[in-house]
Amino acid sequence: MNEAKLIQLPKILDERGNLSFIEKGRGVDFDFKRVYWIYDVPGGEVRGGHAFREQEELIVALSGSFDVVLHDGTVECRYSLNRSFIGLYVPKMYWRRMENFSTNAVAMALASTLYDESDYILDFETYLKWKDNNA
Ligand code: TYD
Repeated sequence: MNEAKLIQLPKILDERGNLSFIEKGRGVDFDFKRVYWIYDVPGGEVRGGHAFREQEELIVALSGSFDVVLHDGTVECRYSLNRSFIGLYVPKMYWRRMENFSTNAVAMALASTLYDESDYILDFETYLKWKDNNA
């Protein structure tokens, strides 16, 4: 099983403003098929709270900050994202939620799959059982 990890994205410093990009093979190894982003999150709200059977993701705080809390079935780990040149790679089969959104936070996610409702596991107990059976 792949590990969750923070990835430093290319960063082109420029007096006119910095530029970063995501390119397959430069820290990101999966094929991405979809991009979505979460924004205008009211204070205190939590997004996510599910796991994906197949989908892998790279999550980037394009603006502002938020936390991604990952659970691998055994251990929980919190990642605070607040730089637009850092991506969090989230492999499939991790339980995840996103919280502590700052004002104007924009969470962008590159996903390895097209949207598929049946890929979601929405209940934590079901996730733990499913994880045990698919370890
Ligand atoms: P969801 O992934 O459940 O968001 P969260 O886990 O943060 O609450 O998505 C919320 C809604 O948006 C849900 O009705 C499905 C829809 N959606 C799409 O249609 N396409 C997408 O790519 C995503 C991520 C969500």
